[in-house]
Amino acid sequence: MGQRMAPSLSLRALTKVWPNGTRALEPVSLDVAGGDDPEFVAILGGSGAGKSTLLRCIARLVEPTSGQVLLDGTDMSAATGRALSEARARVGFVFQQFNLVPRYTALENVLLARVPRRTYWQGILGRFSDEDRAIAARSLEQVGLADKLDAPARELSGGQQQRVAVARAFAQEPRLLLADEPTASLDPRLADVVLDLLRAYGREHRVPVLVNVHTVDHARRFATRILGLREGKLVFDGPSSSLAGDAEAVLEKIYGASAVTNVVQPRAK
Ligand SMILES: Nc1ncnc2c1ncn2[C@@H]1O[C@H](COP(=O)(O)OP(=O)(O)O)[C@@H](O)[C@H]1O
Ligand SMILES: [Mg+2]
Repeated sequence: MGQRMAPSLSLRALTKVWPNGTRALEPVSLDVAGGDDPEFVAILGGSGAGKSTLLRCIARLVEPTSGQVLLDGTDMSAATGRALSEARARVGFVFQQFNLVPRYTALENVLLARVPRRTYWQGILGRFSDEDRAIAARSLEQVGLADKLDAPARELSGGQQQRVAVARAFAQEPRLLLADEPTASLDPRLADVVLDLLRAYGREHRVPVLVNVHTVDHARRFATRILGLREGKLVFDGPSSSLAGDAEAVLEKIYGASAVTNVVQPRAK
């Protein structure tokens, strides 16, 4: 009692219908725990299943049609104006295509994560505080890029760029970490590095992590829990152990019978 509540995420009948009528997200309700044993959730589903829409609605990068997103008990979906920027600032988001500013250095890209915390009069382009710089530099150290602080993002490799993007998310000091296919543009070794970093952050800071992964193998090896999306519906929710051994029944639910063979034994590229 009296202790700070463990971070947690709750979705209540979260729904997204795009303006063209596409029902990308049927009402999705679930709870994801942080705390001593924070969940690392892998979201699986075929192309167009609604995985990106789900993460974007949680982060309010797109407006949900209805439903609620509760982060640490606060209703993010009801926030507007300044409260909305503050709520967004607490959610770290890693994109498949990194979304860095190419001409900015690694450090400057990570400092952008600190912008919402600065007072209005400091302005966007003014000086960052020593504390902001220290947090940004520390985040880059955490991802193994201490020697790249001053390198322009455009001169970094894909794996390095994604680690800058991960550092930027860390520098937000997020209470929730989301990543949308963060490894889809990386080779397998770098993919493991990035997923490892996300997992380590979750454990160290006791926050829930939700990742859209594009391989069943990643889900099996990194996640504690698997969500399966199909046509906007949550068709599976279970521990990652349900993917151990013969997982054909689970994968059939998520991907459909005809696709399973390819998902389980992807053809070499
Ligand atoms: N901005 C958009 N406008 C209209 N429809 C969209 C938009 N973004 C995604 N969709 C549609 O929503 C559905 C879910 O897409 P998405 O969330 O991107 O799936 P996934 O990430 O699982 O591939 C798809 O039918 C897709 O075409
Ligand atoms: Mg997607």
